[in-house]
Amino acid sequence: MTTLAEDLRRSLDHSRNRLIAFALEPQIEQIGRVVEIGDGVATVIGLPETRLDELLVFEGGIHGLAVDLGEHTIGCVLLGDASTISSGSLVRGTGQVARIPVGEALLGRVVDALGAPLDGGSPVAAEAFAPVEQPAPAIIDRALVARPLATGLLVVDAMIPLGRGQRELIIGDRATGKTAIAVDTIINQRSSDVICVYAAVGQKASSVSQVVEAVRRYGAPDRCLFVIGEADAAPGLQWLTPYAACAMAEYFMARGRDVLLVIDDLTKHAAVYRQVSLLLRRPPGREAYPGDIFYIHSRLLERAARLAPELGGGSLTALPIAETQAGNISAYIPTNLISITDGQIYLDPRLFYEDQKPAVDVGKSVSRVGGKTQAAVLKSLSESLRLEYAQFLELEMFTRFGSMVDERTHKVIEHGRRIRAVLSQQQFAPLPLGEQVALLLALSEGILDGLPLERVGTFRTNLGSWLAEHCPEAAALDDRAEVLREDLRSRIKASLELLAHSLGPPSAPP
Ligand SMILES: Nc1ncnc2c1ncn2[C@@H]1O[C@H](COP(=O)(O)OP(=O)(O)O)[C@@H](O)[C@H]1O
Ligand SMILES: [Mg+2]
Repeated sequence: MTTLAEDLRRSLDHSRNRLIAFALEPQIEQIGRVVEIGDGVATVIGLPETRLDELLVFEGGIHGLAVDLGEHTIGCVLLGDASTISSGSLVRGTGQVARIPVGEALLGRVVDALGAPLDGGSPVAAEAFAPVEQPAPAIIDRALVARPLATGLLVVDAMIPLGRGQRELIIGDRATGKTAIAVDTIINQRSSDVICVYAAVGQKASSVSQVVEAVRRYGAPDRCLFVIGEADAAPGLQWLTPYAACAMAEYFMARGRDVLLVIDDLTKHAAVYRQVSLLLRRPPGREAYPGDIFYIHSRLLERAARLAPELGGGSLTALPIAETQAGNISAYIPTNLISITDGQIYLDPRLFYEDQKPAVDVGKSVSRVGGKTQAAVLKSLSESLRLEYAQFLELEMFTRFGSMVDERTHKVIEHGRRIRAVLSQQQFAPLPLGEQVALLLALSEGILDGLPLERVGTFRTNLGSWLAEHCPEAAALDDRAEVLREDLRSRIKASLELLAHSLGPPSAPP
């Protein structure tokens, strides 16, 4: 009995002590109210201390970003389903900018712009929280882009080579294979150590799931991360997606890793930004886009960089995508993006319909940084390729009209047709460096000229296994290899000749 009474008294004492220790202090919390609500935006009054880009919390737990500070009102984009908010709802400031979870735990996941899972999995166990907007690395913190980023697409790696830390725009009309190029590049990283982040803005759910499926099937999904702002997500979430994806990628760059960030696509991002800006009654500029549309894209893409060795030497390569209307690359958003990036891969619908895939228009495409980083073995072989191909395209135009051609022209055209056959490539079948080198060698040594055009495809398909068997040194080439040594070159050549021979008799000389 006594022990029970003692226990009771002790616990009472404990509670009393805690009550005495509890200090009563006034806690100031500013509360505002929603005065107007629109499609994904809200106007709020009564939070005079709100700062630009501050995260606000609405009644019901929905978050919003203060993007427009007026004299008495605050324009806010909502980051979630607005159905629980109405005029008069309470709003609280947080004094913080939007933050998202970052860390290794995100790899292999599909999340939205706030890091919430979309793959049906458990919430992401974040190692840290990072602000979605971060300043780009300063000039002094950067190093020159030095290593290539292999896409596995011969037409890109040979003629428009990309470097780690570069920004390259993929631009073209709808359904010309823009996403396909980005996805193939992600898939090719299965044989490198690059971490891939795919950010989808305003894409259909079905296209997004196709991308995720393709990477899971052919790539290295445990080194990939998908940040998705689908077309039916809140406009604010779509708008935030590329910034959030970039912050998630920066986490790895800061730890010395090479990261690839695909943003699919910035034209839709611009459109969603225009939508919220107009709803917030901000003054429209050219094509009704708000005046800072150039700045919001350049401050995003400036975050791509290769860091100096003192900072770990990591890199962030950005592949933004832009969609044109009827091939018009001089429209407002495409020209902005072309001037921000270090080059563009231009996809031509005409080539696509002629079944030349990937439909890269080599003449309109350029890479202003990657050329210096191109693997030495590839560089020496691809130097003349661009010129030969351009000459062929021009000659082919003329001969289409059926005019007689001399023997030399005929040869150039037949050679060009083989270049074109070698440059076209199926989806999800990235070429390792060794096979790229072998194909270019077969072209430049004239081995393919002796092969009927329709057999070039078979030559390509058989090439991988043939090299592995007959010339394993070629299959093992990597981007740090020096220029092709003469002995290796002649050995690859000999085995390629054997392969061509095994495919049947040579074509009749022209
Ligand atoms: N290299 C290719 N070989 C075969 N089909 C391709 C190739 N590239 C793209 N496609 C197909 O073309 C269609 C459009 O490609 P997609 O990448 O979705 O275009 P975009 O992103 O430009 O709208 C898809 O059905 C895709 O499978
Ligand atoms: Mg697409």
